Amino acid sequence: MFSFVKVAALLAAAATLVSAENTLTFISQDSDARTLYFTGNPGHDEIEAVKVPGGKNVTVNIPYGWEGNFFSVTDGAEYKPGMLGEVAYNSWGGITFFDVSAIVDPNDHNGVKQMWPASAEEPVSGCEIFPCNFAYYLPDDVQTRATHETDLFCSLGNAASGVTARSLLDLVERNQEDHPFFARDFVTGKWSTKRQ
Ligand SMILES: *[C@@H]1O[C@H](CO)[C@@H](O)[C@H](O)[C@H]1NC(C)=O
Repeated sequence: MFSFVKVAALLAAAATLVSAENTLTFISQDSDARTLYFTGNPGHDEIEAVKVPGGKNVTVNIPYGWEGNFFSVTDGAEYKPGMLGEVAYNSWGGITFFDVSAIVDPNDHNGVKQMWPASAEEPVSGCEIFPCNFAYYLPDDVQTRATHETDLFCSLGNAASGVTARSLLDLVERNQEDHPFFARDFVTGKWSTKRQ
């Protein structure tokens, strides 16, 4: 699964990319209002919680090099961590890593769904319908995705069939074959300490 040729291609792309800032855009796929709560990895700033109204897109600016995770709480529901989106922007080689993790609460099927780079629909992490083969269920799974882009999309909630924010639902094969998968260490910050 891990291909150094593909990693080298990503690095080359990253070197030529000039991006002013990082963004994460939440795309609500249903009518529920939600609040997104962020947790920075140790040493990273906290990002204020943000409200995402039903059916709307909300873009959050992410600090340079920020690493951490976020989860969604639907209005009226109990506050507790659920399906996590995990990110490491401008990380190793300038690459931005991301994934969706069901490790904390695999039964949260109403919040974070999928993440992908804003300008393309692959690689993708997460599932439109959980469970699927593109999310973390066990800590030693290898499901982290990488992009040279610094604008990410994250879909929330349950879309009516056929109207999901990410239109290409049939990219499973390409998603697996054309894009390398990385260890979760790349979004938890552990890769840097392991290399020392
Ligand atoms: C949200 O963003 C997606 C992706 O760019 C777009 O297709 C959709 O129309 C946007 N929705 C709204 C309500 O702006």
